[in-house]
Amino acid sequence: MQLSKLLAAGLVTLAAAHPGPHHQPSKRELTRRHELSSRCASNVASFNSRRVKRNIAKRFPGSANTTYQIQAEAPYYETIQNDTCVLTPEVTEGPYIWPQSQTLRQDMTEDQPGIPLWLDVGVLDMETCEPLEGVLVDFWHCNATGSYSSFTGLSPNTPFAELLEDLNVTMSGDLDLHTDDTTWLRGMWPTDKNGMMEMKTIFPGFYVERAIHIHVQVHTDWTVRGNGTMAYGDTVSTGQIYFDEPLSQKIMAQEPYVSHTQINRTTNAVDSVFEGDTDNGYNPVVSVIPVDGNDVTKGMIGYITIGVDKTKVE
Ligand SMILES: *[C@@H]1O[C@H](CO)[C@@H](O)[C@H](O)[C@H]1NC(C)=O
Ligand SMILES: *[C@@H]1O[C@H](CO)[C@@H](O)[C@H](O)[C@H]1NC(C)=O
Ligand SMILES: *[C@@H]1O[C@H](CO)[C@@H](O)[C@H](O)[C@H]1NC(C)=O
Ligand SMILES: *[C@@H]1O[C@H](CO)[C@@H](O)[C@H](O)[C@H]1NC(C)=O
Ligand SMILES: *[C@@H]1O[C@H](CO)[C@@H](O)[C@H](O)[C@H]1NC(C)=O
Ligand SMILES: *[C@@H]1O[C@H](CO)[C@@H](O)[C@H](O)[C@H]1NC(C)=O
Repeated sequence: MQLSKLLAAGLVTLAAAHPGPHHQPSKRELTRRHELSSRCASNVASFNSRRVKRNIAKRFPGSANTTYQIQAEAPYYETIQNDTCVLTPEVTEGPYIWPQSQTLRQDMTEDQPGIPLWLDVGVLDMETCEPLEGVLVDFWHCNATGSYSSFTGLSPNTPFAELLEDLNVTMSGDLDLHTDDTTWLRGMWPTDKNGMMEMKTIFPGFYVERAIHIHVQVHTDWTVRGNGTMAYGDTVSTGQIYFDEPLSQKIMAQEPYVSHTQINRTTNAVDSVFEGDTDNGYNPVVSVIPVDGNDVTKGMIGYITIGVDKTKVE
């Protein structure tokens, strides 16, 4: 079975914080979500005037002496963009989730080379059609040549089934393939009063059998402990976000992406997780604008709205 098939079937799960298999939602559930999202889409202009008054600082007890920095970069987009009101349904988080390496920060690049990407995410409550303040948005993605931090010992060019064979492990609910403690291209940050947050990263590369994507989770129930580690309860949304094929082509023609020649890139059109992500008219594709107003290869701001359904907590 191909990795993408395994992912789509929810057969690949993670160890640690999120045990158990994650199945794709039923047709009925998807329809229900779609109805919620349609309702929000028509109301979305009113989000801009909404203001939720809650103090995010309260979520950072003992912050004075921890390693993270509480200094909010203002998102490029201050409010949720009504022309890109898109909602992602639940898809699998895949085998490279590693909560231990997720770091609270607004720049998760570390030393990874690549084209700068400022990812602006707006989060909407699909039930109320209001922005969600103070929800933690959690990203992880591969580097320009397809590797994930914490899993750098695994080849991005080896099909997943083969990789498991090589490692002599069988597929199970407690699959733990992590190889190290690197943290690059993993980060999380809460949304502000407008339901917005911004994360700086690089445009992702690709690995075997998957289209270019960024994993994203949204947590409503979370807190920073006194020692700087995170505690989260429920995850309300798990998704993957993608880029347009023409944009991907342009970026993949640049260094260091272009040096990844060991495998051919999978496009959105043939990626089976992407297919699941677009069911019922969802659009998980990031809108981008060049930072210099002209050339995306110099860096870009990406924008996407994620609708979450708090009544369906995993
Ligand atoms: C989107 O926002 C713009 C300006 O903020 C407004 O002119 C337009 O009517 C809005 N569109 C919808 C569909 O609400
Ligand atoms: C932070 O920790 C240092 C050393 O433990 C201590 O001297 C300092 O007062 C602490 N700062 C705050 C704001 O608690
Ligand atoms: C991506 O990460 C792998 C594993 O650490 C590393 O070997 C590779 O050089 C990185 N890619 C780039 C473009 O730096
Ligand atoms: C693979 O695992 C099986 C079962 O634990 C064991 O019998 C076998 O020797 C292992 N093979 C290798 C190559 O490690
Ligand atoms: C941080 O605190 C939590 C809860 O008190 C504890 O379980 C965890 O082991 C601590 N982690 C570190 C790295 O100190
Ligand atoms: C990529 O696809 C082309 C065209 O199908 C093929 O000729 C080539 O061998 C493939 N390269 C790799 C590394 O699989």
